Amino acid sequence: MRVRTIPLAVVCSVALALAGALLAGGVQADPRQDQPAGVQDQGGNRLTQDDIARMLPSTDMGANAARNADPHLAPVNDNPATPFDSASIPTNPLAPDAQAIGAKTCVACHALENMQASHSLHVASFRAGAANTGPQAACESCHGPGSEHAKQPTKPGSIIAFTQGSATTPEIQQTVCLGCHAGGARQHWLGSVHQERGLSCTDCHNPMARLSPEGVLAKPSINEVCATCHKDIMVKFNRRSHMPLPEGQISCVDCHNPHGTITKPLLKTDTVNETCYTCHAEKRGPFLFEHAPVRESCLNCHDPHGSNQQTLLVAPLPMLCQQCHTMTRHPNDLQVPTNLGNGPTPDERLMGRACLTCHANIHGSNNPAGARFHK
Ligand code: HEC
Ligand code: HEC
Ligand code: HEC
Ligand code: HEC
Ligand code: HEC
Ligand code: HEC
Ligand code: HEC
Ligand code: HEC
Ligand code: HEC
Ligand code: HEC
Repeated sequence: MRVRTIPLAVVCSVALALAGALLAGGVQADPRQDQPAGVQDQGGNRLTQDDIARMLPSTDMGANAARNADPHLAPVNDNPATPFDSASIPTNPLAPDAQAIGAKTCVACHALENMQASHSLHVASFRAGAANTGPQAACESCHGPGSEHAKQPTKPGSIIAFTQGSATTPEIQQTVCLGCHAGGARQHWLGSVHQERGLSCTDCHNPMARLSPEGVLAKPSINEVCATCHKDIMVKFNRRSHMPLPEGQISCVDCHNPHGTITKPLLKTDTVNETCYTCHAEKRGPFLFEHAPVRESCLNCHDPHGSNQQTLLVAPLPMLCQQCHTMTRHPNDLQVPTNLGNGPTPDERLMGRACLTCHANIHGSNNPAGARFHK
């Protein structure tokens, strides 16, 4: 494979670099661009290219290795991780006969994109780690083989493109990224709501530039990425009571996995309550006296994205409790004029902390005082 592609790549890149330089108005390829910067030229006891290739992580971010190390989980051996140094060139179904031509040729016409991308994780690492495929991997491991495109740059589909409205379908796009990133957090991407609604990896990720400190995101932060489409959810976090997401202490992916999960709606855990317990562990119990709706779902009383009631409650007290508790030991006579705060016999259940004045431990109690959650 290697023997056949390299001479072809050399021939193509010489011919096409010239053509490219002409087309791009004389933009010259930097002869150093194709070398792993500062790697091959170094002598002495500095790092060799092999050293760097070995240091580069596997493409599933270690997720499968971590899972296999856990004795409680079934081992996975699907989708072995692809290291940077064996990046393969994906096929482009819209240009099935195209051949790889090498990054130098792309750069001859795309100097600007190259300048941005050279600081990015992928391009920098492919340049350093391209032991198996040669440095053409720097661009073509994502964009596919470029010979057809270099001949006819404006022909739609001649190259794998990731921008909205390009001839490349989201299916082709995701196949490229999943070629290295299947498994791990993306185990359930296929069939997930985002995949089925036609999102591509690159709706949230932009590997061509360094816009976010981590995650190769298309916006500076995770929350901004989600807010490009889920504005309604994002604005709920502006309500009076909200978890500290706008303050930057938590993000949407603390609870959701945007790549797909087995739980609706994209929750990272099996149930809503498990999600909440990851941070509010004290609510897990076990309690001697449990409050049934708490065990069932925290969402019986709380809205995770924000509320204008206190403590994320879905309804004001005491009405919240009265949705389920009426006509019992406390008759359902709260809202009559005599019981209101300015009436002749104000009811305690409407004052102070309403029902919570007396039923303080509403999430469950371990106190022998009993099942009424007074203590
Ligand atoms: C001969 C010059 C030339 C070469 C060589 C070249 N390109 Fe292009 N490329 C262009 C031009 C011109 C366009 C704009 C086409 C258009 O707007 O329709 C383009 C567009 C693109 C696009 C966007 C396509 C789309 O549909 O939105 C991508 C991605 C791309 N090139 C990647 C590459 C890669 C990767 C290589 C190397 C394998 C490469 N190009 C080599 C000239 C070139
Ligand atoms: C990790 C995969 C990856 C690698 C490696 C990569 N690209 Fe891209 N490229 C993308 C994605 C994704 C986009 C779409 C970005 C966006 O949404 O704006 C893109 C967009 C482009 C575009 C079109 C820009 C536009 O505004 O439409 C060009 C041209 C391009 N890349 C050239 C290159 C060149 C040249 C290289 C090598 C130096 C390269 N790419 C390496 C993934 C990659
Ligand atoms: C040829 C293999 C390969 C391809 C194709 C590829 N990547 Fe990667 N990607 C990697 C490797 C290797 C890493 C580095 C892992 C690390 O740093 O932990 C990585 C890292 C990432 C990261 C994590 C960055 C971080 O800061 O943690 C994201 C996100 C990512 N890639 C998205 C994409 C997207 C989107 C595409 C498709 C446009 C893509 N990748 C295509 C190999 C690849
Ligand atoms: C709806 C938005 C969205 C889509 C679509 C999406 N991602 Fe991500 N991805 C994210 C966010 C946000 C993070 C950061 C998660 C974190 O830091 O925990 C991330 C993290 C990653 C990472 C690095 C951390 C990890 O989970 O191992 C990789 C690799 C990655 N995505 C690849 C992909 C690929 C491949 C696709 C397409 C199949 C894709 N993503 C589609 C939003 C998205
Ligand atoms: C490019 C647009 C886009 C982006 C960006 C995006 N989403 Fe979505 N999301 C959608 C669409 C479309 C749906 C489906 C809505 C529907 O069917 O009602 C959806 C649905 C969801 C759902 C509901 C799933 C269900 O089963 O009902 C959750 C949760 C979600 N997205 C979380 C996120 C998170 C977290 C992020 C950021 C990491 C994000 N989304 C980024 C478009 C997007
Ligand atoms: C504290 C955990 C948590 C955080 C943080 C969180 N969510 Fe959710 N989200 C949930 C839970 C739980 C549900 C289920 C709600 C339901 O079933 O009524 C949900 C439901 C959703 C839904 C689908 C149902 C709906 O209400 O429309 C979308 C879309 C969504 N979240 C997007 C987001 C986005 C975007 C962010 C970040 C701005 C975010 N979530 C942050 C826990 C969270
Ligand atoms: C990633 C961690 C995290 C997860 C997951 C999480 N929370 Fe929180 N929650 C917080 C933090 C941080 C605060 C603020 C604590 C403080 O200010 O002392 C908070 C505060 C709250 C508050 C009090 C809000 C107020 O206005 O005083 C409620 C109620 C709450 N969370 C409910 C939930 C529910 C319900 C879930 C599950 C859907 C959940 N939390 C999941 C981190 C989390
Ligand atoms: C029956 C209604 C109800 C259910 C169900 C419920 N809560 Fe609450 N929660 C409340 C009320 C009422 C308050 C206000 C308590 C106060 O002001 O003392 C509250 C306050 C909180 C607070 C902030 C104050 C504190 O105690 O730390 C957190 C965090 C919280 N709930 C988490 C959860 C979690 C996690 C679940 C699911 C396991 C849950 N809640 C289920 C009614 C409920
Ligand atoms: C979604 C319905 C629901 C909501 C909302 C709710 N509860 Fe409950 N509550 C129940 C159920 C169901 C039981 C268990 C009844 C049983 O065991 O007979 C219960 C039990 C109780 C008990 C113990 C009753 C007993 O006989 O041992 C008290 C006290 C209580 N709730 C107070 C409250 C208060 C105060 C609120 C408001 C903060 C509230 N509940 C909100 C459904 C609810
Ligand atoms: C002034 C203190 C006080 C306030 C305020 C209060 N309760 Fe009670 N509640 C009690 C006491 C004391 C009992 C136990 C009576 C017993 O064990 O015989 C009780 C019992 C209960 C019970 C279990 C017995 C039954 O009737 O089935 C429920 C449910 C209950 N309260 C709900 C509420 C709700 C809902 C509110 C707010 C609308 C509320 N309580 C406000 C003191 C209070």
